[in-house]
Amino acid sequence: MSEHGSAKPTKGILLAGGSGTRLHPMTLAVSKQLLPVYDKPMIFYPLSTLMLAGIRDIMIISTPADLPLFRRLLGDGADMGVTFTYREQPAPDGIAQAFVIADDWLDDSPCGLILGDNLIFADHLGKQMRAAATRPSGATVFAYQVRDPERYGVVNFSENGHALDIVEKPTEPKSNWAVTGLYFYDGRVREYARSLKPSPRGELEITDLNRLYLQSDELHVQRLGRGCAWLDAGMPDSLMQAGQFVQTIQSRQGLLVGSPHEVAFRMGFIDAAGLEAYARGMIKTELGQSLMAIAHGEG
Ligand code: TTP
Repeated sequence: MSEHGSAKPTKGILLAGGSGTRLHPMTLAVSKQLLPVYDKPMIFYPLSTLMLAGIRDIMIISTPADLPLFRRLLGDGADMGVTFTYREQPAPDGIAQAFVIADDWLDDSPCGLILGDNLIFADHLGKQMRAAATRPSGATVFAYQVRDPERYGVVNFSENGHALDIVEKPTEPKSNWAVTGLYFYDGRVREYARSLKPSPRGELEITDLNRLYLQSDELHVQRLGRGCAWLDAGMPDSLMQAGQFVQTIQSRQGLLVGSPHEVAFRMGFIDAAGLEAYARGMIKTELGQSLMAIAHGEG
C-alpha cells in the first residue's frame, strides 16, 4: 500500500445519500441504495467493488434519515472483516462533499469513492482497482461508453488516448465516454476538496475535483471496454435491468454477483468459519446456500 508521502492504506467512501427523485414513489420512505437488486440490497454491489480493491476501512455516508437503516443492515463490518464508520450528509450538496464530510477521518490517506447506486461488473476489475488503489500519486477514474453521455461527466481524449478535458452534463458532449461513479485519489484529495466552490447548481462537483487532478496532469482515465457492464440503478428501467443482469449471471453460471461476504472470504478478510457463520444465518435463501458452498470449498 502506498500513497502520497507515507505508506498509509487506502480508505474507502461509499456515498449513499441523495434524494432518489427519479425513483419516486419507491424512494419516498426508503433510501434508493436499500432497494433490492435481485437478491441483495443495492448497496452490497458497490460495497463489494470497494472491497475487491482491497479496501477494509470504509465510511458510509447517507442522509440523517437513512443512516440508521444502513447501520442496521451492515453493522460494524466484523462479519465481512472490514470496519465501517457512519456519517451524515445533511443535504445532497454534491458528490465531492463526501471528502469534506470525511476530512478528519481521511487524515491524508489515499481514498477510493464509489456511489451507492453504481454497479460495475468486469473480468479483472479487481486487479485494475487494486492497481488504482495503490497508485503512489494522482487520481484514477474509469470511463465507459454510453448512449446518453449528457447525463454524466464526459471525458474526451486526444488521438493518442490522453484525457483532454472533463465536462459535467454537457449539452453537446464531445465524446460518448462517461466517467463512472468509482474514483481513486491520492492523499491530496482532502486538500483539493477543501478548495472547491459550489457550482451554479449549488453542488461540490466531483468533475471539478477530477479537473484539478487533470490540470496537474495527474488524472489517469482508464477505459472500460466491451464485456464490462456499468449500470447506475437510479431509474425504474435501469433498476430492473440491473436485477435481471444479476439474476441471469447467477442462475446461468452459478456464480454470485455483488456479495460482500464472498469477496471478504476470497480477499482473505474473513476465514471459512466466518463465512459459514454468516451463511448459516440465511440458509433458507439461495444466497445463503451459495455462500455455504463457497465456505466448504465447493463454490
Ligand atoms: P444522483 O443519481 O445524481 O442523485 P439521487 O440519488 O438523489 O437521485 P435523483 O437524481 O433520482 O434525485 O446521485 C448519484 C449517487 O450519488 C446516488 O447514489 C446518491 C449519491 N449522492 C449523494 O449521496 N450525495 C449527493 O450530494 C449527491 C449529489 C449524490
